[in-house]
Formats: sequence, structure tokens, C-alpha cells
Amino acid sequence: MRQKLIIGNWKMHKTAHAARMDFLAFAERTKALAGRVDVGYAVPALYVAELAARRTQVGVYAQNAHWAAQGAFTGEIAAPMLSDVAARGSLVAHSERRQMNGETDATAGKRVGALLRTGLEAVLCVGETLAQRETGALKEVLTRQLSEALGASGAAHATDVLGSDPMRPLLSIAYEPVWAIGTGKAATPVEAQEAHAFVRAELGRILGQSMAAKIRILYGGSVTTTNAAGFLQCPDVDGALVGGACLDPVGFSQLCEAGLPGR
Ligand code: PGA
Repeated sequence: MRQKLIIGNWKMHKTAHAARMDFLAFAERTKALAGRVDVGYAVPALYVAELAARRTQVGVYAQNAHWAAQGAFTGEIAAPMLSDVAARGSLVAHSERRQMNGETDATAGKRVGALLRTGLEAVLCVGETLAQRETGALKEVLTRQLSEALGASGAAHATDVLGSDPMRPLLSIAYEPVWAIGTGKAATPVEAQEAHAFVRAELGRILGQSMAAKIRILYGGSVTTTNAAGFLQCPDVDGALVGGACLDPVGFSQLCEAGLPGR
């Protein structure tokens, strides 16, 4: 049984005071979920250390991490730095970074590899644009994104990908159709399940079936408190990556309850 993983992506939102207050409010409201649903926030880099130091059950993720352990990379953050301040992991290649910051499948893979080798979780984001879906290129796009990134990651060993905690593999995939991000136009649960089943089959081809069965595949793109349960009931949807609907800690804590087993 894959335990559900629900991560809120703050993107470039919240001042320091709001970040602290909202994080603590969410941590308080989700205490009862500990051990049953994995919850977390991907926060602006500036807040990672302080929020992770609170040592709550809420995982603190960065929104990006560089592949080098250190060096002349102005403005970047290395995986060992995140580990040092007790971050749980990082998003990798969110579509906004692919579109606005020149992220490629090859650099995504290098970031994934660096995180896994540091013992941190990597949440690799993949997904098609509307034009790609409309021209029937969905599977081709997912195959390319997964093969190239996981190939470039150099993470061939199960210990790299799965870590030591059977409930919490180090690698997860976030399937986020670009046309559904921030648009209010989510995929349907049927569309999500189809894409997730395909992603799992591809993971099986690339990493082997037993690893693919353990890796969590999150759906992202206009997930709300209202539609979350519909996605989380699909057999291959193991969680959610939530943007807009995570900004309010009360609403987001309610959304996370949809990840409880048997819901
Ligand atoms: P959204 O964002 O929930 O606001 O669509 C999702 C994401 O970008 O991860």
C-alpha cells in the first residue's frame, strides 16, 4: 500500500510572518494525519531552514535544488545544504521552471540524482501542454520526460530511488498537465488515472516493476478541496501537488484529509 503524499506548493507567495503562522496552523490541524498521510509544503528557499527546524510532521521541501554539491553557481542551492537544514526534499522541473527558467529533462535528471544521493526526496514534475495533448503526443512527451530525466539521474540502484523507509520512497513523480496548472481547469479523474497508469508502466520499463510499484505518482493541476477525493480514489494516484488551494492552511488541511486510507 502506497501511503498518500500531499504537497502544497507555495510558489513565490507569503512574507516571513505569514509563512510561519500558516505553516504552524497547518501543522497543528494535520497532527492527526501523521503516519497515515504524508503532508508537506514546498516553500521559497528563504524559509526552508526555519520551517524545517520546527520539527513538525509537515515535510519541508524546496522548490528547486542544484546538481552540484557546491561551487560557483550564484543564486543556486545545493542538495547537501537542504539536507543540512533538515529539508525533506525538493520539487524538480516544475513546469513553471521548464517554461520560464530553461529547465530541461537532462538538468532535471541531474537534480534528481543529486537529491537521491543526498538521501533527500525528489519530486520530479512531468506533464504535457494543451497542444501536445490535442495532437496526441501525451505518451510520447511523458516517455521522453521520464526516460531522459531518470537516465540522466544516474540513480539506477534501488537504494538510491527508494531510500530506507518503505512508506516513503525517495523518488516520486508529479504528473501535472501544464494546461491544468493555475487555470481552474483540472483534468478529470479518468484522464489522471490514464496518465498515471502510463507513467507507472514507463517507470517499470526504466527502473523495474517492483520499484515502479512503490513509487508515488502525484496528480497536480487545479486540485481543490472539492475535487481532491475524486483523484485520490484512483488506483494509480498516490497523492497531489497543490498550488492555489494550498495557500490557505485551513482549506489545505481539509484537502489533505481526502488522502486518509479508506476515504
Ligand atoms: P495549481 O498549481 O494547483 O494552482 O493548479 C499546481 C502546481 O503548480 O503544482
